[in-house]
Amino acid sequence: MKQINGYSKLTKDQKIDWLVDNYLEGNQATKEELISFWHRDINTQKKLDEFSENTITNYFFPFSIAPNFLINNKWYALPMAIEESSVVAAMSMSGKFWSERGGFKTEILGTTKIGQVHFTLDANHQELKNLFPDIKKQLLEATKYITHNMEQRGGGIQDIELMDMTQHEPNYFQLKASFDTKDSMGANFINTCLEEFGHQLKAIVAEKNWGNISIILCIVSNYTPNCTARATVECPIENLGFFGQMSPEIFAEKFRLAVRIAEVDPHRATTHNKGIYNGVDAMIIATGNDFRAVEACGHTYASRNGQYSSLTHCSIDNGIFKFWIDLPLAVGTVGGLTQLHPLVKIAMQILEYPNAEELMQICAVAGLAQNFAALRAMTTVGIQQGHMKMHLFNILNHYHATKSEKDYALNYFKDKIVSFSTVRTMLEQIRGEKIGES
Ligand code: MEV
Repeated sequence: MKQINGYSKLTKDQKIDWLVDNYLEGNQATKEELISFWHRDINTQKKLDEFSENTITNYFFPFSIAPNFLINNKWYALPMAIEESSVVAAMSMSGKFWSERGGFKTEILGTTKIGQVHFTLDANHQELKNLFPDIKKQLLEATKYITHNMEQRGGGIQDIELMDMTQHEPNYFQLKASFDTKDSMGANFINTCLEEFGHQLKAIVAEKNWGNISIILCIVSNYTPNCTARATVECPIENLGFFGQMSPEIFAEKFRLAVRIAEVDPHRATTHNKGIYNGVDAMIIATGNDFRAVEACGHTYASRNGQYSSLTHCSIDNGIFKFWIDLPLAVGTVGGLTQLHPLVKIAMQILEYPNAEELMQICAVAGLAQNFAALRAMTTVGIQQGHMKMHLFNILNHYHATKSEKDYALNYFKDKIVSFSTVRTMLEQIRGEKIGES
């Protein structure tokens, strides 16, 4: 039966058995393969299982290091969880390049997060607006029991605004609240406060006999344009050095134009920003943060002026090449996976236990560095040179190439196009036999 009730109630073994019987042709070798990815330590495996539901095994991802990052005069090695070829190599190149030119400078531009209560009220709207200063006091008072600990840590609710949204939908209003959640990402804290706002608002409206209120949604907003870090690199143009035959002046101008193109053209901006998130997401995942939230926010931020645009910027003034990024990053260094996932714990240790503001700045550097590497490759030798070596290795691994076959291929493909068919043909020539598709 390809349909089942109560799958979540089965044991892990039973879940796998059901899956193998119904979707994996009853293949016991596949079952064993799934089990082979379980962690050898039963307690660690139990922890991993509990991060999600209906877990049957672990999904492995490379955990890599990009060393040599000098950020605000402190050395870092960046942990990255990513599967894409050449991203870590590019990142490491960029780290070294800029660390030899004064390093990365970073700053926090803001740490405010946002949550909203969306509601409708069919009553006297003017009265709601007039009384809102008092209502706000009541809401703040009523959430003291939730905010107490956060306030002890220097955070809490910063403000609550009443937003009249009736131009979009009759009777639609919002409470738009801003928060500082210090070292936690804060979604749970914010949602708890918002739901309490919702209860209180209902009670106030009932008490005042104002009419019908309907609380539609109480939820954190992942758009945090004021929770942002800036990372910058700069140096005199001549310090950029020669790239092969290309002078630093020509390189700097081509690079500036490449950034400018992403500022004005959404097609290019999307790919440009995707490359930035190659670096950012890899760090966000390695440090146990929510990469969906971070990406969603970044793309909205990239559209904040009405057209999707580049997250990085470049200027050349008085012979100084400057390249920077402003990136919204709602991340946490306490709570969530940060103290639970064994590899996240190690990632945090590698980063010397940053607080949330430090982690924001390091992630902004990762985005800037990754973008620099991609643009440098594209404006000089082209992206394929770096990509192709990794692509070649992936294909060779697919065909179970030996060490000597790989060495031969590396030389053979120096001046040839890498594709599955060209690699297969080369291997068939060496092996003297046809290779079946595996
Ligand atoms: C590939 O993952 C990322 C790039 O396409 C980024 C870019 O084009 O800037 C190389």
